[in-house]
Formats: sequence, C-alpha cells, structure tokens
Amino acid sequence: MTGNIFGDRFKILSFGESHGKVVGVVIDGCPAGLKLNEKDIQKELDLRKPFYPEITTTRFEKDKVEILSGVFRGYTTGAPIAMIIKNRKMDSRPYMEIKDLPRPGHADYPARVKYRGYNDYRGGGRFSGRITASFVMAGAIAKKILKEELGIETLTYTYQVGKIRVKKLSREEISEKRYSNPVRCPESETAEKMKRAIIEAKKEGDSLGGVVAGIVYGLPVGLGEPVFQSLESELSKGFFSIPAVKAVEFGAGFKVSEMKGSENNDQYVLRKGKIVTLTNNAGGVLGGLSTGMPLTFKVFFKPTPSISKPQNTVNLKEMKEEIMVLRGRHDPCIVPRAVPVVESITNLVIVDNCLKAGVLKNVL
Ligand SMILES: Cc1cc2nc3c(=O)[nH]c(=O)nc-3n(C[C@H](O)[C@H](O)[C@H](O)COP(=O)(O)O)c2cc1C
Repeated sequence: MTGNIFGDRFKILSFGESHGKVVGVVIDGCPAGLKLNEKDIQKELDLRKPFYPEITTTRFEKDKVEILSGVFRGYTTGAPIAMIIKNRKMDSRPYMEIKDLPRPGHADYPARVKYRGYNDYRGGGRFSGRITASFVMAGAIAKKILKEELGIETLTYTYQVGKIRVKKLSREEISEKRYSNPVRCPESETAEKMKRAIIEAKKEGDSLGGVVAGIVYGLPVGLGEPVFQSLESELSKGFFSIPAVKAVEFGAGFKVSEMKGSENNDQYVLRKGKIVTLTNNAGGVLGGLSTGMPLTFKVFFKPTPSISKPQNTVNLKEMKEEIMVLRGRHDPCIVPRAVPVVESITNLVIVDNCLKAGVLKNVL
C-alpha cells in the first residue's frame, strides 16, 4: 500500500489499522524549538473521540497519545516526531463473520480485489475512520505552530446535518459555541434539531450525511504553489483523504456556476490602509494563492455506510447473492466527529505551505 505520506516540507506518514495494535503518525520536517508536550496533542485528540452514545459510536477508546521521538527537554528537536495511540476496545468477531460479504458503501470489495485478500478487513482496517486520529495528532502540532508563530487560526464546525443547516455566523459565535453541544454546531437551536434528526435516523437503523464548514483567519497573501500544488489543490487532496468525504467547495463553491461575473467578482477596496475585498466569493484563494481574505470552505460527508437495515450484497467466496444485516458499533452521522479532523488537515496544509513560502523557518 503506498499513498500514506502527505505534505512536502511538513510531511506526515500515517500508519495503523482499526483493529491492529496502534494508530500512529510520523512527522518529518517539524521545525525545531516548538514547546510541546503530550497534553497539547491530547486536547485535540479528545475532540475526535466518540463522546455521546446517542449520536456517536459506542466504541469508547481512551486514545491516550504517546510521543515516541523528536521531543527533548520539552521542545521539538527538528528530528522525526513519532506518536501513537493504542487500540484496546476492539471487537473483531462481527467482521470475521462477514469477511466474504462486502458491506455496501465501504471499501471492502475494491480493497479485497486490489490486495487479493491480504488487507486487514477488521473494522475497515486501513479504511476506517479511526485512522483519522493520526491526522489529528499531527494536526495538533501544526495548529500550535500556526497559532503561536503566525497568529493563524482555523475554525471548523458542523454546518449541515441531513437537510438541516445553520445560518451565517460570526467568528466569535463559531469560536465560542462550536464545541458547546455534541453536534459541534455553534447555533444551539439548530444543533438540537440536528441531534434529534441523528437520533431518529439511528432508531430507523439508518444514518445521515452532512457538511463541515471551515474558516482560516490571518493567512498572509501568496500561500500556495501553482499550478499543481495550488492551495485549493492541496487542501482538496487532504480533505478527500478523510473517509466519507464526497465533495469540497471553496467560497461560493458550486453556486459560482449560476452567477454572473459581476456578481461573482470580489471587488477591491482599501480599509485602514489594507487591501481587502467587498465580498469573498473566491473563499480567500485566487490563482491557487491565498489573497489575505479569510479562507472559507465546505467539506461534504456522505451518510455513514454502516446501517442496520437489510442490504443486498454478494458472497465473494460462493459467488452468490445474499442479504446482510450489519452488527457492530457505528457513528450514525460522521460529521460531528469529523469537525476536528477537517481542522487538522487544514492546519497541516497551511503549515506545509508556510514552510514552502519561507513564512516559517526550520528553527522557530
Ligand atoms: C471520524 C470518522 C468516523 C467514521 N465512523 C464510521 C463508522 O462508525 N461507521 C462507518 O460505517 N463508517 C464510518 N466512517 C466512514 C468510513 O470509514 C468510510 O465511509 C468508508 O471507509 C468508505 O470510504 P469512503 O466513504 O471514503 O469511500 C467514519 C469516517 C470518519 C472520518
């Protein structure tokens, strides 16, 4: 399996499987001189953990991070940083029972064909949402560097669950309220509706999709390496590496195809001596470069593939059609738990681009 390395200057290697011994990450290229301890990582990892049995999986793992290398006397050394969390609460039996029955909506069928059955299929193996813990461990370090060195802040939140979505929110509202409820939606009334919809879908043996929105404040002008490593290209690559992501948009996104140029163009003005735009349909990126306006994006998640309704599948050993009913523990909606994952990917891409642009140095 190749394809587990992401980033150019701030490079991460993600490893581990859902029911293997550990999930982990190695970062190569983290600048030296960052004050870092396990608590810095743990507080971000805790946001990704299942937290509310009614709307998340009931596989409750401690996810206690261990930093294995690259930190000495409380500071990063510039050497590779390896981090792991242990898998402890696995129940592999339901997966052994269905090893020849590919689950609809999962990677089981193409993975079995590609790896000729050698892949670890337990809990989805390498395709599990659990591997996103490695993105969050690395993302926690990226977040700390961006905040402390450059004052850059990424805020992600639940924007939509099923057909329920939030209105426009201020930076303060997002920042203060996004983690104030289990749905991770800054609008408490909407969050309550979203929660009820998730509980309802779960009761029906079904699941819901939705959208994580994000804003990055404080970016300098000119981040991104066009053409193939444009800021949008790199962010999209990262977002599409999160399991269950099916679409990504920046700024006005899909709506731009229906707009006129006069509606879509963001016109320049001077405000307190600074060049800004009156609107931000570009979402803070032009020509693949950051414009200095807030970077805005939405990441679209499909409904959780594991549902408990009966579904058609094919027994791959006997080559005969079967009806399958899934057992196991699942998130009835992935979106709330994906909020810190999307934030981590964003911070990883930004820190990588800051190093490429020389905005950040190898020693802080
Ligand atoms: C944080 C997170 C948690 C997830 N939890 C589950 C889950 O409990 N059950 C499930 O069926 N899929 C879950 N997924 C999604 C699947 O891993 C994913 O849909 C599947 O591997 C197929 O990959 P694809 O949807 O990217 O094609 C989760 C994804 C993320 C990001």
